[in-house]
Amino acid sequence: MARINDNYLKLAAGYLFPEISRRVGAFQATNPDAQLIRLGIGDVVLPLPPTVVEAMHKAVDEMGTEAGFRGYGPENGYPFLREAIAETEYRSRGIEVADDEIFVSDGSKCDSGNIQEIFAADARIAVPDPVYPVYVDTNVMAGRSGAADASGAYEGIVYLEANEDNGFVPSPPKEAVDIVYLCFPNNPTGAVATLNGLSEWVEYAKRTGAILLFDAAYEAYITEDGIPHSIYEVPGAREVAIEFRSFSKSAGFTGTRCGYIVVPAELEGLSADGSKVPIQRLWNRRHATKFNGVSYPVQAGAAAALTEQGRAEVRERVDYYMANAEIIRSGLGGLGLTCFGGVNAPYVWAKTPAGLGSWDFFDRLLTDAHVVGTPGAGFGACGEGYFRLSAFGKRDQVEEAVERIRTRLPL
Ligand code: MLT
Repeated sequence: MARINDNYLKLAAGYLFPEISRRVGAFQATNPDAQLIRLGIGDVVLPLPPTVVEAMHKAVDEMGTEAGFRGYGPENGYPFLREAIAETEYRSRGIEVADDEIFVSDGSKCDSGNIQEIFAADARIAVPDPVYPVYVDTNVMAGRSGAADASGAYEGIVYLEANEDNGFVPSPPKEAVDIVYLCFPNNPTGAVATLNGLSEWVEYAKRTGAILLFDAAYEAYITEDGIPHSIYEVPGAREVAIEFRSFSKSAGFTGTRCGYIVVPAELEGLSADGSKVPIQRLWNRRHATKFNGVSYPVQAGAAAALTEQGRAEVRERVDYYMANAEIIRSGLGGLGLTCFGGVNAPYVWAKTPAGLGSWDFFDRLLTDAHVVGTPGAGFGACGEGYFRLSAFGKRDQVEEAVERIRTRLPL
C-alpha cells in the first residue's frame, strides 16, 4: 500500500474555515429556520465593479473570434497586467518595482501556501501568533515542524506573540530564523505596522539572512495616513522581502481569482554548497512548472480594476466595507466589549466577554444570536479569548448582527 505524507497527520484540526462551515452546517441542520448572518470567513458580498465586468465581457468576446482567441498564456501573467500592476501599485507611488518582478497568480492563499516549496526542507519558520492558518499548515504539511501541543502550537515553529501589549505587532525574535511571515494590515487582528516597525524587520532580515514574506492582501483597507502600504517603502527591503497582493478583497475577486507576488531581482537565498541563488529564478521555475496562468478574461478584469475608473469603483466598495467595520466596532464597543482593528482593515478583533473561551463564544454567538464569527483560537494559541467579525457583509445584515448581539447575548 502506498505510504502517505505523514506530516498531514500532524495537522491539529481541519482547516479553520471548513471546520467553521461544518459546525454551522450541523447547527443549521437542527435549526432550519434560523436566519444566519455570516461574518466569519472574509468573503466579499458586493458585485464586481462595472468596469471590471465590462472588460471581462470584452475579453470573452475576443476569445470567441479567430483574431482574438488565446490559448495558453504566459505563466507569470500577461505583460499588460504585469505592467499595470507595477506602474499603478508601485512606481506611481515612488516604489521601484519592474514589470518582470510581478508574478500573477490565482490568489494570495495559493501564493502564500506555495512559496515555502522553494525553501529548504529544514528551513526554520517564524510566524506571528495569532496568524492566518495557511502559513503554518503548509509548512507542517512540508515537514518543517514536529507535533502540535495542546494549544495547537507546533514544535519547531517559532511563534511571535502578538498581543495587546505590543499592539498586535510583534518585534523580531532574539534567535535567527530563515523565513518570517508577516501580514499587514493584519488578518486576523486588523493591526497595522508603522514604517519604523517594518524597518526593524528589514534590519533583522539583513542582519540574520532571513527572508520576509510580507502579505499585503488587505493593503487597500488602509485609511490612515502614514501607514506603509508596501514593505518596499522601507529602504533595503528589496534585498530581503517578497510581497503578496490580491484582487480578492479590493476588487471583489474571491470567486474570480487573481493575485500576484513581487519577487525583486536582488533577493537571494543560499544553496547547499553556499552559493547565492536569485529567489526570482526559483519562483519563475516553480510557477512555469506547476501553473498555467490566470485566464485571459480574469486578467483583463484585473487590469480594468487598476484603471482610474476601476480604482474609483474599488474605492467605493472598500469604503462600504469600512463603514460596516465602524458599525461593528462602535456597536460592540458600546456593549462594553474591547475591540481592536476595523480602522485600517476589514476585520474587528474583539475580546470575548467574561473571559469566555473563543470556541465557547463562537457557539453562543451562533446558537443565541444566529451570527457566525471566527474564534480567535482558530488563528493560534494567542488568539484564545478573542473572536473576529468580518466587515464583509451587506449593510442591513451587519446592523442586524450588532442588534442581535445586543439583544440576545447577555454580555
Ligand atoms: C479570512 O477570512 O481569513 C480570509 O477570507 C481567508 C482567505 O482569504 O483565504
